[in-house]
Amino acid sequence: MHAPITSAPALELRGLTKRYDDGFLALEDFDLTVPAGEFFGLLGPNGAGKTTLISAVCNLIRISGGEIRIFGRDHQLGEARRLIGLAEQDINLDRFLDVEETLLYHGGYYGMERNRAKARAKEMMEIFDLSGRAHVRAPKLSGGMRRRLLIARALMHEPPLLILDEPTAGVDFELRIDLWQYIRRLHDEGTTVLLTTHYLEEAEELCNEIALIRGGTLLARDSADGLRATYEVETLADVYVKAMAGAAASAAGSTATAATPA
Ligand SMILES: Nc1ncnc2c1ncn2[C@@H]1O[C@H](COP(=O)(O)OP(=O)(O)O)[C@@H](O)[C@H]1O
Ligand SMILES: [Mg+2]
Repeated sequence: MHAPITSAPALELRGLTKRYDDGFLALEDFDLTVPAGEFFGLLGPNGAGKTTLISAVCNLIRISGGEIRIFGRDHQLGEARRLIGLAEQDINLDRFLDVEETLLYHGGYYGMERNRAKARAKEMMEIFDLSGRAHVRAPKLSGGMRRRLLIARALMHEPPLLILDEPTAGVDFELRIDLWQYIRRLHDEGTTVLLTTHYLEEAEELCNEIALIRGGTLLARDSADGLRATYEVETLADVYVKAMAGAAASAAGSTATAATPA
C-alpha cells in the first residue's frame, strides 16, 4: 500500500528521556531504531515505560530530553504526526459519536477530503466488521467492537507507521486471531507496525524483531531466534524471565551501590 517515504527508519529514538512532573524517571537515555517495513514488538512488564515511549513518539507528553524522528522528520512536525496511526492502550472513544462519526471526525482532523473519508470509513467498517454498527454510539458497543473501532480509527488516514499499545489486552481468542490476520496483512502491504503486548506468543507469531524493556531502559533487541540464542534458552518466555531477572538484579545492585556511603 505504501512505498517507503524515504530510506529513513520509521522510528528513531536518540537519548530519549522522560521525567514526569513528580520526578519519576520513566525513560532514561533510550536509543531505538525501527527500520521501515518492520513488525516490531515492545515487551516488558507493567511500568516498564512502553506507553510512555509511545506517548512521547506521538506528542501526547512532553519529553525531557533526546530526539525522536519519524521517517527522518522531527516528531513534532505536523507532517511527522500524520505518518503515525495510534491505537492507545486506554480505549478513548468519544461517547457522543457513533462508529461512522468517530471515523469521519478522525479523517477530518487529518485533513481528509469528505468523500475520501466517507469511502475510507466504509472500507474500515467492512474490514473490522462494524458495518452493522455504523450508527451505534461507543458506549453501546461491546468491548471487542470498541477495540476494533480504535484500530479502524488509527488507520483512517492511511498512516505508514501503525502503533498498537496492547491491542489485544482483554480481547477474546477469536477476535485476537482476527486482529492478528488483519494487522499482518497491513504489514505485508508495507505498513510498519510497532506493537506492545504481554502475550509472548503474540510477539513470537507476529514480530520480526523484539525489544525487551524494563525500568525505562532497553535490555535487549533482536529477532525471537536471536534472543533465544543470546539467552541460551528454548522459548521466548524463558528469554523474558531471564532478561527481567537480570535487570532486577542489576537494578538492585545499583541501588545498593548508590546507598553505600562513599
Ligand atoms: N503521568 C505520570 N506521572 C508520573 N508517573 C507516571 C505517569 N505516567 C506513567 N508514570 C509512571 O511511569 C512508569 C512507566 O509507565 P508506562 O509507560 O505506562 O509503562 P508501561 O506502558 O510499560 O506499563 C510507571 O512507573 C508509571 O507509574
Ligand atoms: Mg502501557
